[in-house]
This record gives sequence, structure tokens and C-alpha cells, in this order.
Amino acid sequence: MTTRRRFLAHLGATTLVPLTLPVAAARLPRAALTFTEVSRGVDHTHHLPPGYHADVLLRWGDALFDDVAAWRPGFADAVADPLRFGYNNDFVAYFPLGPERSGSRRGLLAVNHEYVTPSMMWPAATTTTRAARARAELSALGHSVVEVRRTTDGWQYVRTPRNRRTTGATPVALTGPAAGHARLRWADDPAGRTSLGILGACGGGKTPWGTVLVAEENFNVYFTGRSNDPLERSRQERYGVGRGTAFAHWAEHEARFRADRNPGAANGYGWVVEIDPYDPVRRAAKRTALGRFKHESANCVLAPDGRVVVYSGDDEMFEYIYRFVSAERFDAGNRAQNFSLLDRGTLSVARFADDGTVHWLDLVHGAGPLTADNGFDDQADVLIDTRRAADLLGATRMDRPEEIETDPVTGIVYVMLTNNTRRTADTTDAANPRAHNVFGHILRLYPPVQTSGIRDHAAPEYRWDIALLAGNPRDPQHGARYPVAVSEHGWFAAPDNCAFDPHGRLWVATDQGRTWGVTGSADSLFACELAPGQEHAGIRRFFRAPLGAEVCGPEFTPDGETLFLAVQHPGVDGVAGARFERPGTRWPDFDDALPARSSVLAITRQDGGPIGG
Ligand code: FEO
Ligand code: CA
Repeated sequence: MTTRRRFLAHLGATTLVPLTLPVAAARLPRAALTFTEVSRGVDHTHHLPPGYHADVLLRWGDALFDDVAAWRPGFADAVADPLRFGYNNDFVAYFPLGPERSGSRRGLLAVNHEYVTPSMMWPAATTTTRAARARAELSALGHSVVEVRRTTDGWQYVRTPRNRRTTGATPVALTGPAAGHARLRWADDPAGRTSLGILGACGGGKTPWGTVLVAEENFNVYFTGRSNDPLERSRQERYGVGRGTAFAHWAEHEARFRADRNPGAANGYGWVVEIDPYDPVRRAAKRTALGRFKHESANCVLAPDGRVVVYSGDDEMFEYIYRFVSAERFDAGNRAQNFSLLDRGTLSVARFADDGTVHWLDLVHGAGPLTADNGFDDQADVLIDTRRAADLLGATRMDRPEEIETDPVTGIVYVMLTNNTRRTADTTDAANPRAHNVFGHILRLYPPVQTSGIRDHAAPEYRWDIALLAGNPRDPQHGARYPVAVSEHGWFAAPDNCAFDPHGRLWVATDQGRTWGVTGSADSLFACELAPGQEHAGIRRFFRAPLGAEVCGPEFTPDGETLFLAVQHPGVDGVAGARFERPGTRWPDFDDALPARSSVLAITRQDGGPIGG
């Protein structure tokens, strides 16, 4: 028994796993926002309202365990790199260690590491070999679980055996209907039941049984070459597999990245991965029942009968919105059983009708066009080629679906649509109404209300409307429309990640990418009072990121007094000539010996009290 195993065996007797976690806890009454709005603009650092404080909690390169060698930026260390906090932090989930108030002061932070930017990792004159760089880059990807505590000195992370790194090389189980299928087998995995690592860990979600869902998004860019088989090649092209060249050194180092020779290995990515943050040795699992596409997020809500519903967007221009409904019901008293809930159920895709109806179209083998005549021999084919199946069903092509969150008070579902500059006037529709949609928009979905007063997230039809069209409402050319007051600092573009706080207010983070010059402001986090009947309704900028960064997370502690934000790729996006030697900023350390570092912030009020007021 290793030391780690012994520690965990000891833990077993006094487990801190709660029987059930609120999916989106709204236990506090609605409250008005009280903070002074942050101004729009761009500079080298982050900005918060007066009276708020940010601790830099976790930085790329931080050692997550004792006895890990000190980080040397620009150098590879095959032993230590997989034991450090990874690069490009994105989705953040907080899991309390303890009940009520103490659980808001001590917990596990689950953080995605989406991708790597080699030009920011390595000096131009690096002597590190291509193979060593590939290994280090794979080590910087994936997911971290880290214990964090709020002390009198602020939030700090703890080096403990509870912590866990899942990298781009860690074995992950493939489960559900596609596991073991011929199209997932290849020479190194003849059973088709194991995929190495997590690629493109973008958004995510939390389940009611206290696990985290990690969404594999842009997995395709890491693969080199395409199959010579015309059918497999066309399937790869639908996901853009094998198109990129920036990661050719990975394919030299590991055969799984040769999509021309090993298409079965490439089919092992593009899934939703479930990780138990409370058990660092339980193997992570890719849940194939949720389909394969560029998953932005995977947010859970319960249907009135206890079935688990997961919403997920496919983040690319003209892609779709999906919903999974489990076959079995969540059992708050049987955590072990809940681990199989995401392996059986029905995946559907959304079609938005002009009359304000959303139809959920089931992706079930044998139904409608999903038959062998169209290349779908079984349900595994439908799940591996989810995009193509959704094409055949006539789903609505959206403006980059990102995070999808349910308002815990009203049950209304909010969908972030980032932008779509390729949409033309003759391809607009009621749900995607703007051509050349630079600014993005937010849709609302209304599942039907049952006689119990609860919305049915498993219903075959919903209603929908547009919550807002982003952009500057004072510039008629933008075509922006907000239902609430927005100041010159409060309008935004490119809604991406979002979260509800315990008061039931929506917080929206933006990702303008290289195009932030269009708005003239760095990416930010906005507090939005959008719910019907909310007093003092408005939208206000709460946080502004440093130059070249996007804002990810956001995540609140159950008491609403701490907000975790992941600042990703500072000094990179839209910064001409940004590279290791010359990033656009050296946030957050501002040390010439250190690169800009993606980092997670823990934000609190200096006088205590809930974030936002
Ligand atoms: Fe990874 Fe959709 O941004
Ligand atoms: Ca969220």
C-alpha cells in the first residue's frame, strides 16, 4: 500500500463526501447588486470594484504535492510536470469539505486545463527536444483537483494526497454504449475501453452526487493526418480531425496522435469525462452516452421524476445544442449507484421553431434517418458521429453554443451563444437573428411547468425566447437589445461561461478571443439581474481581466461569499507578436523571470458578505 493509498484508506472511515450536493444552490433570497461598476478598458492587470479583494490561489506551474521540484519556466521535467497545476485554466467547480459554513471555507477545487500555447511555454532558442516538449505539453493539460482553505490570510491551496492531476496522458475509462466498439479499438487499446488523458478540457458541470463533468472541446487540433478510408475520412473531417499542424511533434512522440493510422484512438476524444473529486484513485470515465462533439459544458439539473438532465453545447459556428436525459433516477441515498446514471439514457438535439417552440429530437439508432443506409450501424455510430446524426435530423445550427445553465429559482435555462461571424443574411433564423453576429446573444429556454409547479427538463418540447442581443445598445449598427439597464461599462460581447450565485443572479463571463478590439475592452465578468420580477434589474461589469486573457469559471462557495475565477491565457489573445520572451503582460507575478501565468483567483469582500451585495 502506498502512502497515498494508506491515507485514503484512513479517509474512508471519516468520509467527507456529502450525500447530495445542490446542483445549483439558491438558498438565499433575491438581493440587489450593490457594488460600484468596474469601467471598460484594457491594461496589464485585473480590476475589481472598491471593497473587493482577489487572492491568486493557483498558478500554472504550482506544485500540487510535497517534494515536487521547483518549476523552471521554459524547461521540461518529466517527473515533476505531471504533478503541477496545469496550463490555461478554464472551468472551475467547488466541492465543500464539510457542512454549511465550514464547507464554504474548506473544499476541493476542480479545475480544467484546456490547451497549451507552445510559443508561450518555450523560449525561441529552447534546447528541449521535440519529444520532451510533447510530454511536457501533455502534462500541462487535463484536470486538477486541489484542496483549498480560507484562512485569516485569505484563500490558500494545500499540498495533500487528496489532490489529483489527470493529464493528457492519464488512462481514462470509456464507458456507456460506445465503449468497446470496434471504432474505439486500436493497437494500444484492443479492447476499446481506455482513452489516454483529457484533451480540450473546456467547460464542465457538477452532478447532484458530487462529481465533476469535464467537457472535451477542441480535441481535434492535436491529431496529424486523416484516414485513407473514404468513410472514416469524411467522419474525421466533420470534426476537423487532422487539419492542424501545430502539434505534429505529438504524433512523432505518440502513435495515438496519428489519425491516419489510428482513427480508433482519435475517436476516444470529444466526450464528457466524469471525475470523483472526493476519491483521487477512482478512475475518470468518458461517458459516451452523452455523445461526441466539441462539448463546451455539461450542466446538470434534475427532472421532476428524478432523472438526470445534462445540457451541453457544441462550441463551433453553426453547431448544435444537446440534451441528455438519464434512463434511471438519481438516488440521494445511494452515491455508488449514481455513478452509472450517465451511461444509459437518451441524447437529443434542439430544433428551434420560429413560433417559439423548441423541439428535442432524439438521437436514437434506427429511428428516422439514423440507419445503416446512412452509415449508422448501431447506437455507437450515432454517439461517435453525433454531429452527422444531428445534421440528418435537421437540428438548428447555432451561433457557437457555449455554457448552458439553469436558473435554480425559476427553472429557466440560459444558453450563451458567443458569436458567429460567418452567418450571412440569408442564413439567419429566429433563434440566430443577426448576420455577421460579432457580439453574440443569450437565449432562454422554458421547459413546461407541471401541475406541481416544477419545470420538466425531460419534456419533448419547450418554449424559447431571446434574453438579450449583446453589443453596444447605443450604437444602432450593433443591433443590440437588453431587457434591463446597461451603462456604457455594462454592455458586452461574446458571452461564454456563466454561473448562478446563491441569490439566483446570473454571472456571465466573456471570451472575445482576438477580437476584443471591436469592443475596446478586455474580457470581463458581468453580474446580470435578468429574472422576471427582479428588482433593480440591470447588468454591471464586476471584474475586468488583464490584456489578452479570457475570464473562466465562475464559481461561488455555497455561502456566496467567495467567487472563484479562472483567468486564462493572459497576455496572449489579440496581442501581436506575443511569445515566451515577450508576453503582453506578466500577470499575475509581474516578474521578468516568469511568464504570464493562467491563474485561479479567489475573490472576497473586504467587509465579508456576499459577492455582489
Ligand atoms: Fe473552450 Fe468554447 O471555449
Ligand atoms: Ca457555469
